Formats: sequence, structure tokens, C-alpha cells
Amino acid sequence: MEVSEWCKIAVLISGRGTNLESIIKSVETGYIKKAQIAVVISDKRDAYGLVRAKKHRIETRVLEAKDFPDKKGYEEKLIEILESFNIDLIVLAGFMRILSPYFVNHFKWRIMNIHPALLPAFTGLHAQKQAVDAGTRFSGCTVHFVTEKVDQGPIIIQAAVPVYVDDTEDTLSQRILQYEHKIYPKAIKMYVEKKLEITGNKVKIKDERFEENVLINPNL
Ligand code: GAR
Repeated sequence: MEVSEWCKIAVLISGRGTNLESIIKSVETGYIKKAQIAVVISDKRDAYGLVRAKKHRIETRVLEAKDFPDKKGYEEKLIEILESFNIDLIVLAGFMRILSPYFVNHFKWRIMNIHPALLPAFTGLHAQKQAVDAGTRFSGCTVHFVTEKVDQGPIIIQAAVPVYVDDTEDTLSQRILQYEHKIYPKAIKMYVEKKLEITGNKVKIKDERFEENVLINPNL
């Protein structure tokens, strides 16, 4: 098979990169087929995710905001790098910068994000702390397509976890993270296999068996 038929993925990170690691493993084990992580881009030079990428011999780039006069300049450079790798799908994995409509529309329906809450609840920063403070009984994680509106794009997949009365931001984050590592590879796999159909603000999964699994199997 020609490499050009493969889905070329860029993973954007800012920190430790545990989601990145789970995605790398999913590609390496063949869970996600016909896909290649072509580049990992970080907006922080010291992000541990860069170390993880290098261990797997994946190309890395660092793009720090302080080196650019403004957001437009930053994003133009980001687009230049992504296009130089012929990227098909951009995966935000703990990338803590808000992307402008200019960038999002350039890669329309080709950007995914993971958020540590059951969207549309608890958008923005410290989503796990927001859930603990609100006394909610359930929270979870969401993979969604990125649109101009932060944390509001069409939802691809979610996983729910219980929130206990003595949870802290840290204990809940750990519980949610285990599910992040399951649902992100699953969402990417479905994208690569062209099983995601966007209609309005909804994502239809073109695989009845899968739709059932997402809805009723808590273990995914
Ligand atoms: C994850 O919990 C992810 O959901 C969150 O950052 C963490 C990154 O962890 N993302 C957001 O809060 C985006 N709004 P990781 O670097 O270990 O993958």
C-alpha cells in the first residue's frame, strides 16, 4: 500500500503526553490501521510528551508563542509545519492554546480535541475541579471535533465515570484519564476508517454495532 493512502496525523501537546502515548500505542499495535503519526508539535519546549515521541522515533517540533508577535503569526507557522507533513488529521491532546477561527476553518472537520468532562458541562480550564466543586455524581471525558466555539464542537464519543464525595481534583482526574486513553484511540480509529458523519452538531457513527457499544457498554 502506498504511504499516501494512509492517514497522516499530527498530535499537538503542551505537557506530559499520556494521551499521546496511548495514541502511539494504538497505532503501533495496529488497533488504528493505515495511519501514521507524522509529527508531534508542542507549544512548550519542556513538555514530557516530546520525550515520549522521540522514544518512538516520531518527528517533533516546538512552537512557543513567545517567539511570535501575535496569534496569527503563530498559527501561520503552525499551518506551514502541518502542511509540510501533509497532515490529514490534527489531534489536540492536552494542547492548551485556543485556536482561532482562521486556523479551525483552514482544517475544517480535521481537528479533534479531548476534554476531561462530559461536555457541554464544565468547559474551559480545570474541568475536573469544576465537577468536584459542583458536587456532580458523574463526570467523564469527551472527544469532539473542534469548531470556532471552544469546547462546543460535535461530540464523537464520551465516557462517564462516577464522582465520589471525597474525590479531589487529582483523584477524579486519574479516574477520567484512564477512559481518555480508551476513547481517544477509538475516535481516531473511526475517523481513519471514515465512519464519522457530521450532520449539524451531531456525529453519526456509520457502524451500528459500534453505536450500540458506545451507548451501552461502560467498559467500551
Ligand atoms: C488531559 O486530561 C486532557 O483531557 C486535558 O489535558 C490533559 C492532558 O494530559 N485537556 C484539556 O483540559 C483541554 N481543555 P496528557 O498530556 O497526559 O495527555
